[in-house]
Amino acid sequence: MSTYEIKFSVNGNDEILAVRGEETLLRALRRVGYVEVKLSCEGGDCGACAVLLDGVAVNACLVFVAQADGCEITTVRGVGTEDDLHPVQEQLIEKGGVQCGFCTPGIVVSAKALLDENPEPTREDIQRGLAGNLCRCTGYKKIFEAVSAAARQMKEGGDS
Ligand code: FES
Ligand code: FES
Repeated sequence: MSTYEIKFSVNGNDEILAVRGEETLLRALRRVGYVEVKLSCEGGDCGACAVLLDGVAVNACLVFVAQADGCEITTVRGVGTEDDLHPVQEQLIEKGGVQCGFCTPGIVVSAKALLDENPEPTREDIQRGLAGNLCRCTGYKKIFEAVSAAARQMKEGGDS
């Protein structure tokens, strides 16, 4: 089966990959080590594989890797680091919005996309913004509280 070469950046790192036409962005990212992008339903139903593609949150399992040629991709590791957490990450820890953690990378990515677009979301905006991210553990309340608190923190601190 034929392969061809594409280029994109992931969290600021340039990547050159030989890909096949049917390979998804999710499978390709994990193949080259970005395993923080979680592989779960592979049908667009859970949001665990969410990444930012040129700043827009997408489910990487629904994107062919070829569609990402030339794009900038951000995974949860590019949103914040252990030493410099994004307010969403800080508040998820603070409010107890992480239990098993499997959904957390996708939640962080979706919440960042939401707050980038809408810095003062209502509870309904947050629920809508995270509607594509399933969490089997937390019951969502603490996640929604964390995103609200992150919005306040970003407003007060001018943090992003
Ligand atoms: S693995 Fe992509 S939405 Fe579930
Ligand atoms: S914390 Fe376990 S799935 Fe969300």
